[in-house]
Amino acid sequence: MDSIRFDFGNIMAPALEGGVGADLFDGEMADAFGRAHAVMEAQRESGVLGFLDLPHAKETVEQVKSLAEGYGQWFEDVVVLGIGGSGLGAKALRDALLGPFWNDHSDEERDHFPRLHVADNPDPFTMRGLLERVEPARTLFNVVSKSGATAETMAQYLMVRERVETMVGAEAARGHFLFTTDPGSGALRRIGEAEDIPMLPVPENVGGRFSVLSPVGLLPAAVCGVDVDSLLAGAAAMEVRCRSDQLSENPAGVLAALLHDADRKRSRPIHVLMPYSDRLRSVAFWFQQLWAESLGKARTVTGEATATGPTPVAALGATDQHSFLQLLMEGPDDKVVLFVEVADHGPDAVIPNTHPEIKELAYLGGHSLGELINTERRATAEALRLAGRPNATFVLPRVDEGTLGQLLMLLQIATIYAGALYGVDPLDQPGVELSKRLTYGLMGREGVERPTLRESDARWVL
Ligand code: PA5
Repeated sequence: MDSIRFDFGNIMAPALEGGVGADLFDGEMADAFGRAHAVMEAQRESGVLGFLDLPHAKETVEQVKSLAEGYGQWFEDVVVLGIGGSGLGAKALRDALLGPFWNDHSDEERDHFPRLHVADNPDPFTMRGLLERVEPARTLFNVVSKSGATAETMAQYLMVRERVETMVGAEAARGHFLFTTDPGSGALRRIGEAEDIPMLPVPENVGGRFSVLSPVGLLPAAVCGVDVDSLLAGAAAMEVRCRSDQLSENPAGVLAALLHDADRKRSRPIHVLMPYSDRLRSVAFWFQQLWAESLGKARTVTGEATATGPTPVAALGATDQHSFLQLLMEGPDDKVVLFVEVADHGPDAVIPNTHPEIKELAYLGGHSLGELINTERRATAEALRLAGRPNATFVLPRVDEGTLGQLLMLLQIATIYAGALYGVDPLDQPGVELSKRLTYGLMGREGVERPTLRESDARWVL
Protein backbone atom coordinates (compact mmCIF):
# COMPACT_ATOMS: atom_id res chain seq x y z
CA MET A 1 0.00 0.00 0.00
CA ASP A 2 1.29 3.46 -0.91
CA SER A 3 1.71 5.69 2.13
CA ILE A 4 0.32 9.17 2.37
CA ARG A 5 2.82 11.88 3.28
CA PHE A 6 2.56 14.91 5.51
CA ASP A 7 4.73 17.77 4.28
CA PHE A 8 4.94 20.49 6.95
CA GLY A 9 8.01 22.34 5.64
CA ASN A 10 6.02 25.55 5.17
CA ILE A 11 5.36 25.75 8.92
CA MET A 12 9.05 25.49 9.74
CA ALA A 13 11.82 28.09 9.83
CA PRO A 14 13.67 29.15 7.82
CA ALA A 15 11.24 28.33 4.96
CA LEU A 16 8.60 30.26 6.87
CA GLU A 17 9.80 33.46 8.45
CA GLY A 18 9.28 33.10 12.20
CA GLY A 19 8.32 29.47 11.72
CA VAL A 20 8.79 26.57 14.12
CA GLY A 21 12.43 25.93 14.94
CA ALA A 22 14.56 22.90 14.16
CA ASP A 23 14.21 21.79 17.78
CA LEU A 24 10.68 20.56 17.01
CA PHE A 25 11.74 16.97 17.60
CA ASP A 26 13.79 17.52 20.75
CA GLY A 27 12.54 20.71 22.35
CA GLU A 28 9.47 21.83 24.29
CA MET A 29 7.01 20.61 21.67
CA ALA A 30 8.52 17.15 21.67
CA ASP A 31 8.21 17.08 25.47
CA ALA A 32 4.58 18.18 25.29
CA PHE A 33 3.94 15.52 22.68
CA GLY A 34 5.57 12.93 24.96
CA ARG A 35 3.05 13.82 27.68
CA ALA A 36 0.14 13.78 25.21
CA HIS A 37 1.27 10.40 23.93
CA ALA A 38 1.29 9.05 27.49
CA VAL A 39 -2.27 10.38 28.00
CA MET A 40 -3.39 8.71 24.79
CA GLU A 41 -1.74 5.41 25.72
CA ALA A 42 -3.52 5.52 29.10
CA GLN A 43 -6.82 6.18 27.30
CA ARG A 44 -6.11 3.33 24.89
CA GLU A 45 -5.38 1.07 27.85
CA SER A 46 -8.60 2.07 29.62
CA GLY A 47 -10.59 1.14 26.51
CA VAL A 48 -12.20 4.50 25.72
CA LEU A 49 -10.56 4.87 22.31
CA GLY A 50 -12.63 2.24 20.56
CA PHE A 51 -12.04 3.82 17.14
CA LEU A 52 -8.45 2.54 17.23
CA ASP A 53 -9.74 -1.04 17.28
CA LEU A 54 -12.21 -0.65 14.42
CA PRO A 55 -9.75 -1.66 11.67
CA HIS A 56 -9.32 -4.98 13.47
CA ALA A 57 -12.99 -5.65 14.34
CA LYS A 58 -13.16 -8.65 12.00
CA GLU A 59 -16.49 -10.02 13.23
CA THR A 60 -18.30 -6.71 12.81
CA VAL A 61 -16.75 -6.16 9.38
CA GLU A 62 -17.98 -9.59 8.27
CA GLN A 63 -21.44 -8.74 9.57
CA VAL A 64 -21.38 -5.46 7.61
CA LYS A 65 -20.21 -7.17 4.42
CA SER A 66 -22.77 -9.91 4.67
CA LEU A 67 -25.64 -7.42 5.12
CA ALA A 68 -24.25 -5.15 2.40
CA GLU A 69 -23.74 -7.94 -0.12
CA GLY A 70 -27.04 -9.68 0.61
CA TYR A 71 -29.89 -7.63 2.01
CA GLY A 72 -28.39 -4.34 0.77
CA GLN A 73 -28.46 -5.46 -2.86
CA TRP A 74 -32.24 -5.92 -2.95
CA PHE A 75 -32.60 -2.17 -3.22
CA GLU A 76 -32.04 0.50 -5.87
CA ASP A 77 -31.52 3.29 -3.38
CA VAL A 78 -30.03 3.38 0.09
CA VAL A 79 -30.87 6.38 2.26
CA VAL A 80 -28.83 7.04 5.38
CA LEU A 81 -30.77 8.95 8.04
CA GLY A 82 -28.19 10.28 10.50
CA ILE A 83 -26.74 13.59 11.64
CA GLY A 84 -23.34 14.81 12.88
CA GLY A 85 -20.98 11.90 13.28
CA SER A 86 -23.76 9.60 12.14
CA GLY A 87 -23.94 11.22 8.70
CA LEU A 88 -20.71 13.04 7.89
CA GLY A 89 -18.55 9.91 7.71
CA ALA A 90 -20.85 8.17 5.24
CA LYS A 91 -20.85 11.30 3.09
CA ALA A 92 -17.06 11.55 3.20
CA LEU A 93 -16.64 7.92 2.13
CA ARG A 94 -19.31 8.17 -0.58
CA ASP A 95 -17.96 11.32 -2.19
CA ALA A 96 -14.31 10.26 -2.00
CA LEU A 97 -14.65 6.67 -3.14
CA LEU A 98 -17.73 6.71 -5.36
CA GLY A 99 -17.32 10.23 -6.69
CA PRO A 100 -19.71 13.15 -6.90
CA PHE A 101 -21.80 11.66 -9.75
CA TRP A 102 -22.54 8.23 -8.26
CA ASN A 103 -26.26 8.81 -7.95
CA ASP A 104 -26.49 10.15 -11.51
CA HIS A 105 -24.86 7.08 -13.04
CA SER A 106 -26.95 4.46 -14.81
CA ASP A 107 -27.40 1.04 -13.19
CA GLU A 108 -24.73 -0.39 -15.52
CA GLU A 109 -22.26 2.35 -14.67
CA ARG A 110 -22.85 1.63 -10.99
CA ASP A 111 -22.41 -2.10 -11.60
CA HIS A 112 -25.99 -2.37 -10.28
CA PHE A 113 -24.99 -1.24 -6.82
CA PRO A 114 -27.60 1.05 -5.24
CA ARG A 115 -27.56 4.82 -5.25
CA LEU A 116 -26.60 6.31 -1.88
CA HIS A 117 -28.21 9.33 -0.25
CA VAL A 118 -27.30 10.81 3.11
CA ALA A 119 -30.13 12.81 4.69
CA ASP A 120 -28.50 14.56 7.61
CA ASN A 121 -30.84 17.51 8.05
CA PRO A 122 -34.56 17.50 8.80
CA ASP A 123 -35.12 20.25 6.26
CA PRO A 124 -38.66 19.70 4.97
CA PHE A 125 -37.74 20.86 1.47
CA THR A 126 -34.87 18.39 1.16
CA MET A 127 -36.72 15.50 2.78
CA ARG A 128 -39.74 15.96 0.53
CA GLY A 129 -37.49 16.21 -2.49
CA LEU A 130 -35.58 13.08 -1.55
CA LEU A 131 -38.71 11.05 -0.90
CA GLU A 132 -40.06 12.12 -4.28
CA ARG A 133 -36.84 10.99 -5.96
CA VAL A 134 -36.59 7.52 -4.45
CA GLU A 135 -39.14 4.77 -4.84
CA PRO A 136 -39.84 3.71 -1.22
CA ALA A 137 -40.72 0.20 -2.34
CA ARG A 138 -37.17 -0.19 -3.72
CA THR A 139 -35.32 1.71 -1.01
CA LEU A 140 -33.44 0.72 2.10
CA PHE A 141 -33.43 3.26 4.93
CA ASN A 142 -30.36 2.93 7.12
CA VAL A 143 -31.27 4.77 10.32
CA VAL A 144 -28.02 5.68 12.07
CA SER A 145 -28.09 6.98 15.62
CA LYS A 146 -25.78 5.87 18.38
CA SER A 147 -28.12 7.20 21.07
CA GLY A 148 -31.21 6.13 19.19
CA ALA A 149 -32.87 9.32 20.36
CA THR A 150 -31.59 12.26 18.29
CA ALA A 151 -34.63 14.39 17.43
CA GLU A 152 -33.65 15.12 13.83
CA THR A 153 -32.97 11.50 12.92
CA MET A 154 -35.94 10.10 14.82
CA ALA A 155 -38.27 12.60 13.15
CA GLN A 156 -36.96 11.55 9.74
CA TYR A 157 -37.38 7.88 10.68
CA LEU A 158 -41.00 8.38 11.81
CA MET A 159 -41.81 10.21 8.63
CA VAL A 160 -40.17 7.68 6.37
CA ARG A 161 -41.65 4.75 8.26
CA GLU A 162 -45.18 6.04 7.78
CA ARG A 163 -44.53 6.66 4.11
CA VAL A 164 -43.08 3.21 3.50
CA GLU A 165 -45.94 1.58 5.41
CA THR A 166 -48.43 3.47 3.26
CA MET A 167 -46.68 2.30 0.10
CA VAL A 168 -45.90 -1.34 0.90
CA GLY A 169 -47.98 -2.18 3.97
CA ALA A 170 -46.98 -2.38 7.64
CA GLU A 171 -45.61 -5.92 7.46
CA ALA A 172 -43.40 -5.43 4.41
CA ALA A 173 -42.22 -2.01 5.64
CA ARG A 174 -39.95 -3.64 8.22
CA GLY A 175 -37.95 -5.10 5.37
CA HIS A 176 -36.95 -1.61 4.25
CA PHE A 177 -35.04 -0.65 7.38
CA LEU A 178 -31.64 -1.28 8.86
CA PHE A 179 -30.71 0.31 12.17
CA THR A 180 -27.14 1.21 13.16
CA THR A 181 -27.17 2.00 16.84
CA ASP A 182 -25.84 1.32 20.32
CA PRO A 183 -25.48 -2.42 20.93
CA GLY A 184 -27.35 -2.38 24.23
CA SER A 185 -29.64 0.57 24.67
CA GLY A 186 -31.80 3.28 23.11
CA ALA A 187 -35.22 3.57 21.51
CA LEU A 188 -33.97 2.47 18.09
CA ARG A 189 -32.56 -0.73 19.50
CA ARG A 190 -35.81 -1.42 21.34
CA ILE A 191 -37.81 -0.99 18.13
CA GLY A 192 -35.34 -3.12 16.18
CA GLU A 193 -35.49 -5.93 18.72
CA ALA A 194 -39.28 -5.82 19.02
CA GLU A 195 -39.78 -5.85 15.25
CA ASP A 196 -36.90 -8.01 14.16
CA ILE A 197 -35.31 -5.28 12.05
CA PRO A 198 -31.69 -5.97 11.05
CA MET A 199 -29.26 -4.00 13.19
CA LEU A 200 -25.57 -3.18 13.26
CA PRO A 201 -23.73 -2.02 16.36
CA VAL A 202 -21.93 1.25 17.04
CA PRO A 203 -19.48 -0.01 19.68
CA GLU A 204 -20.15 1.46 23.09
CA ASN A 205 -16.66 3.01 23.22
CA VAL A 206 -16.92 4.69 19.80
CA GLY A 207 -18.46 8.17 19.73
CA GLY A 208 -20.28 9.61 16.74
CA ARG A 209 -17.46 11.67 15.25
CA PHE A 210 -15.02 8.76 15.64
CA SER A 211 -17.39 6.23 14.04
CA VAL A 212 -16.60 6.54 10.33
CA LEU A 213 -14.79 3.17 10.31
CA SER A 214 -17.54 1.44 12.30
CA PRO A 215 -20.74 0.14 10.68
CA VAL A 216 -21.86 3.80 10.63
CA GLY A 217 -19.60 4.50 7.65
CA LEU A 218 -18.81 0.97 6.52
CA LEU A 219 -22.32 -0.25 5.74
CA PRO A 220 -23.28 2.58 3.36
CA ALA A 221 -19.88 2.28 1.67
CA ALA A 222 -19.92 -1.51 1.40
CA VAL A 223 -23.45 -1.59 0.03
CA CYS A 224 -22.19 0.47 -2.94
CA GLY A 225 -19.24 -1.83 -3.56
CA VAL A 226 -16.50 0.04 -1.71
CA ASP A 227 -13.67 -2.28 -0.68
CA VAL A 228 -13.98 -1.80 3.08
CA ASP A 229 -11.13 -4.24 3.77
CA SER A 230 -8.69 -1.94 1.97
CA LEU A 231 -10.13 1.10 3.74
CA LEU A 232 -9.55 -0.59 7.10
CA ALA A 233 -6.11 -1.82 6.04
CA GLY A 234 -5.13 1.79 5.31
CA ALA A 235 -6.45 2.89 8.68
CA ALA A 236 -4.68 0.02 10.44
CA ALA A 237 -1.36 0.93 8.79
CA MET A 238 -1.70 4.54 9.98
CA GLU A 239 -2.71 3.43 13.46
CA VAL A 240 0.47 1.36 13.69
CA ARG A 241 2.55 4.26 12.32
CA CYS A 242 1.14 6.57 14.99
CA ARG A 243 1.97 4.28 17.90
CA SER A 244 5.47 5.73 18.05
CA ASP A 245 6.31 7.86 21.05
CA GLN A 246 8.92 9.62 18.90
CA LEU A 247 7.41 12.78 17.49
CA SER A 248 9.67 12.56 14.44
CA GLU A 249 8.02 9.27 13.46
CA ASN A 250 4.43 10.08 14.30
CA PRO A 251 2.53 12.14 11.67
CA ALA A 252 -0.59 12.51 13.85
CA GLY A 253 1.60 13.74 16.70
CA VAL A 254 3.32 16.28 14.45
CA LEU A 255 0.01 17.58 13.13
CA ALA A 256 -1.46 17.98 16.62
CA ALA A 257 1.71 19.52 18.04
CA LEU A 258 2.02 22.06 15.20
CA LEU A 259 -1.64 23.10 15.26
CA HIS A 260 -1.73 23.37 19.05
CA ASP A 261 1.46 25.44 18.98
CA ALA A 262 0.02 27.63 16.21
CA ASP A 263 -3.08 28.31 18.29
CA ARG A 264 -1.64 28.73 21.75
CA LYS A 265 1.79 30.20 21.05
CA ARG A 266 1.36 32.01 17.76
CA SER A 267 -2.26 33.24 17.90
CA ARG A 268 -3.36 31.16 14.91
CA PRO A 269 -6.49 29.39 16.13
CA ILE A 270 -8.15 28.97 12.72
CA HIS A 271 -7.27 25.72 11.02
CA VAL A 272 -8.35 25.38 7.40
CA LEU A 273 -8.52 21.99 5.68
CA MET A 274 -8.43 22.61 1.93
CA PRO A 275 -8.30 19.58 -0.34
CA TYR A 276 -7.60 20.20 -4.02
CA SER A 277 -10.05 17.54 -5.07
CA ASP A 278 -13.84 17.66 -5.28
CA ARG A 279 -13.94 14.08 -4.04
CA LEU A 280 -12.35 15.13 -0.74
CA ARG A 281 -14.55 18.13 -0.02
CA SER A 282 -16.77 16.09 2.32
CA VAL A 283 -13.67 14.89 4.17
CA ALA A 284 -13.01 18.56 5.00
CA PHE A 285 -16.52 18.87 6.44
CA TRP A 286 -16.06 15.63 8.36
CA PHE A 287 -12.81 17.03 9.82
CA GLN A 288 -14.53 20.30 10.68
CA GLN A 289 -16.91 18.45 12.99
CA LEU A 290 -14.18 16.22 14.42
CA TRP A 291 -11.85 19.11 15.32
CA ALA A 292 -14.62 21.49 16.52
CA GLU A 293 -16.73 19.17 18.62
CA SER A 294 -13.74 17.41 20.14
CA LEU A 295 -11.67 20.45 21.10
CA GLY A 296 -14.15 23.27 21.72
CA LYS A 297 -14.62 22.94 25.47
CA ALA A 298 -15.53 25.12 28.45
CA ARG A 299 -13.53 23.10 30.98
CA THR A 300 -10.24 21.28 31.14
CA VAL A 301 -10.12 17.67 32.23
CA THR A 302 -9.29 18.89 35.73
CA GLY A 303 -12.38 21.10 35.83
CA GLU A 304 -10.85 24.54 35.30
CA ALA A 305 -12.91 26.99 33.28
CA THR A 306 -11.28 27.47 29.88
CA ALA A 307 -13.13 28.55 26.77
CA THR A 308 -10.75 26.75 24.50
CA GLY A 309 -10.49 25.23 21.07
CA PRO A 310 -9.35 26.01 17.55
CA THR A 311 -11.81 26.89 14.79
CA PRO A 312 -11.70 24.47 11.88
CA VAL A 313 -12.81 25.63 8.45
CA ALA A 314 -13.55 23.44 5.43
CA ALA A 315 -12.44 24.88 2.09
CA LEU A 316 -11.92 23.55 -1.42
CA GLY A 317 -9.11 24.14 -3.90
CA ALA A 318 -8.94 25.45 -6.48
CA THR A 319 -12.52 26.80 -6.17
CA ASP A 320 -11.90 28.78 -2.98
CA GLN A 321 -8.84 30.47 -4.45
CA HIS A 322 -11.51 32.70 -5.93
CA SER A 323 -13.38 33.28 -2.69
CA PHE A 324 -11.40 32.53 0.46
CA LEU A 325 -7.77 32.89 -0.56
CA GLN A 326 -7.71 36.68 -0.41
CA LEU A 327 -8.53 36.46 3.30
CA LEU A 328 -5.93 33.72 3.83
CA MET A 329 -3.26 35.81 2.13
CA GLU A 330 -3.93 39.27 3.47
CA GLY A 331 -6.49 39.02 6.25
CA PRO A 332 -5.58 38.50 9.90
CA ASP A 333 -2.58 36.22 10.33
CA ASP A 334 -4.56 33.85 12.54
CA LYS A 335 -4.77 30.75 10.35
CA VAL A 336 -2.93 27.60 9.36
CA VAL A 337 -3.88 26.07 6.04
CA LEU A 338 -3.74 22.31 5.60
CA PHE A 339 -3.86 21.34 1.95
CA VAL A 340 -4.61 17.90 0.60
CA GLU A 341 -2.96 17.14 -2.73
CA VAL A 342 -3.85 14.14 -4.85
CA ALA A 343 -0.74 13.20 -6.83
CA ASP A 344 -2.60 11.11 -9.39
CA HIS A 345 -6.22 12.10 -10.05
CA GLY A 346 -6.80 9.05 -12.29
CA PRO A 347 -7.83 9.33 -15.92
CA ASP A 348 -6.94 12.92 -16.70
CA ALA A 349 -8.18 15.39 -19.28
CA VAL A 350 -5.63 17.01 -21.56
CA ILE A 351 -6.36 20.65 -22.32
CA PRO A 352 -6.49 21.14 -26.09
CA ASN A 353 -4.39 23.79 -27.80
CA THR A 354 -7.35 25.30 -29.60
CA HIS A 355 -6.12 28.91 -29.66
CA PRO A 356 -2.30 28.83 -30.07
CA GLU A 357 -2.42 32.44 -31.26
CA ILE A 358 -3.97 33.79 -28.03
CA LYS A 359 -1.33 34.01 -25.30
CA GLU A 360 -3.89 34.08 -22.45
CA LEU A 361 -5.02 30.59 -23.49
CA ALA A 362 -2.09 29.10 -25.44
CA TYR A 363 0.06 28.28 -22.38
CA LEU A 364 -2.67 25.90 -21.10
CA GLY A 365 -2.70 23.74 -24.22
CA GLY A 366 -1.05 20.34 -23.76
CA HIS A 367 -1.23 20.42 -19.98
CA SER A 368 -3.85 18.40 -18.12
CA LEU A 369 -6.51 19.47 -15.62
CA GLY A 370 -4.78 17.36 -12.96
CA GLU A 371 -1.55 19.21 -13.65
CA LEU A 372 -3.37 22.55 -13.43
CA ILE A 373 -5.13 21.86 -10.12
CA ASN A 374 -1.93 20.49 -8.52
CA THR A 375 0.11 23.40 -9.84
CA GLU A 376 -2.42 25.78 -8.35
CA ARG A 377 -2.03 24.09 -4.98
CA ARG A 378 1.74 24.35 -5.13
CA ALA A 379 1.54 27.98 -6.22
CA THR A 380 -0.91 28.81 -3.44
CA ALA A 381 1.24 27.10 -0.81
CA GLU A 382 4.23 29.11 -2.01
CA ALA A 383 2.27 32.36 -2.10
CA LEU A 384 1.15 31.79 1.48
CA ARG A 385 4.69 30.95 2.55
CA LEU A 386 6.03 34.12 0.93
CA ALA A 387 3.36 36.08 2.80
CA GLY A 388 4.54 34.48 6.05
CA ARG A 389 1.40 32.34 6.36
CA PRO A 390 1.98 28.77 7.62
CA ASN A 391 0.67 25.88 5.59
CA ALA A 392 1.20 22.15 5.27
CA THR A 393 0.13 19.47 2.83
CA PHE A 394 -1.12 15.92 3.04
CA VAL A 395 -0.08 14.22 -0.18
CA LEU A 396 -2.23 11.28 -1.25
CA PRO A 397 -0.74 9.20 -4.06
CA ARG A 398 -4.34 8.82 -5.28
CA VAL A 399 -7.83 8.79 -3.80
CA ASP A 400 -8.59 5.18 -2.97
CA GLU A 401 -9.65 3.11 -0.01
CA GLY A 402 -6.11 2.63 1.30
CA THR A 403 -5.08 6.29 1.22
CA LEU A 404 -8.41 7.52 2.58
CA GLY A 405 -8.24 5.03 5.45
CA GLN A 406 -4.81 6.40 6.34
CA LEU A 407 -5.95 10.03 6.22
CA LEU A 408 -9.08 9.45 8.32
CA MET A 409 -7.15 7.55 10.98
CA LEU A 410 -4.37 10.16 11.06
CA LEU A 411 -6.87 12.98 11.64
CA GLN A 412 -8.70 11.06 14.37
CA ILE A 413 -5.50 10.22 16.26
CA ALA A 414 -4.31 13.83 15.89
CA THR A 415 -7.58 14.91 17.50
CA ILE A 416 -6.90 12.74 20.55
CA TYR A 417 -3.37 14.13 20.85
CA ALA A 418 -4.72 17.66 20.45
CA GLY A 419 -7.25 16.99 23.23
CA ALA A 420 -4.37 16.03 25.52
CA LEU A 421 -2.31 19.07 24.49
CA TYR A 422 -5.22 21.43 25.14
CA GLY A 423 -5.99 19.55 28.36
CA VAL A 424 -9.60 18.85 27.37
CA ASP A 425 -11.66 15.72 26.88
CA PRO A 426 -11.94 15.20 23.11
CA LEU A 427 -14.56 12.49 23.52
CA ASP A 428 -17.43 14.43 25.11
CA GLN A 429 -19.67 17.23 23.82
CA PRO A 430 -21.52 18.76 26.80
CA GLY A 431 -22.06 22.00 24.91
CA VAL A 432 -24.44 20.30 22.51
CA GLU A 433 -26.80 19.32 25.29
CA LEU A 434 -28.52 22.61 26.14
CA SER A 435 -29.94 23.24 22.70
CA LYS A 436 -31.05 19.59 22.53
CA ARG A 437 -32.84 19.92 25.85
CA LEU A 438 -34.52 23.18 24.88
CA THR A 439 -35.67 21.59 21.61
CA TYR A 440 -37.11 18.57 23.47
CA GLY A 441 -38.94 20.92 25.86
CA LEU A 442 -40.30 23.10 23.09
CA MET A 443 -41.40 20.10 21.07
CA GLY A 444 -43.22 18.69 24.10
CA ARG A 445 -41.14 15.63 25.06
CA GLU A 446 -42.53 13.94 28.16
CA GLY A 447 -40.46 14.59 31.26
CA VAL A 448 -38.69 17.64 29.84
CA GLU A 449 -39.85 21.00 31.11
CA ARG A 450 -41.10 23.40 28.44
CA PRO A 451 -38.71 26.40 28.50
CA THR A 452 -39.80 29.98 28.05
CA LEU A 453 -37.62 31.46 25.35
CA ARG A 454 -36.70 35.08 25.65
CA GLU A 455 -38.26 36.73 22.62
CA SER A 456 -36.18 39.26 20.68
CA ASP A 457 -36.55 42.78 21.92
CA ALA A 458 -39.00 44.43 19.54
CA ARG A 459 -36.80 47.52 19.31
CA TRP A 460 -34.08 45.43 17.69
CA VAL A 461 -36.14 43.72 15.05
CA LEU A 462 -36.46 45.23 11.58
O1 PA5 B 1 -20.01 13.24 17.34
C1 PA5 B 1 -21.02 13.15 17.99
O2 PA5 B 1 -21.08 12.51 19.06
C2 PA5 B 1 -22.30 13.80 17.52
O3 PA5 B 1 -22.07 14.61 16.42
C3 PA5 B 1 -23.33 12.74 17.15
O4 PA5 B 1 -22.82 11.94 16.10
C4 PA5 B 1 -24.64 13.38 16.72
O5 PA5 B 1 -25.13 14.23 17.72
C5 PA5 B 1 -25.69 12.32 16.41
O6 PA5 B 1 -25.88 11.51 17.53
P1 PA5 B 1 -26.56 10.11 17.42
O7 PA5 B 1 -25.69 9.22 16.63
O8 PA5 B 1 -26.73 9.66 18.82
O9 PA5 B 1 -27.88 10.30 16.72
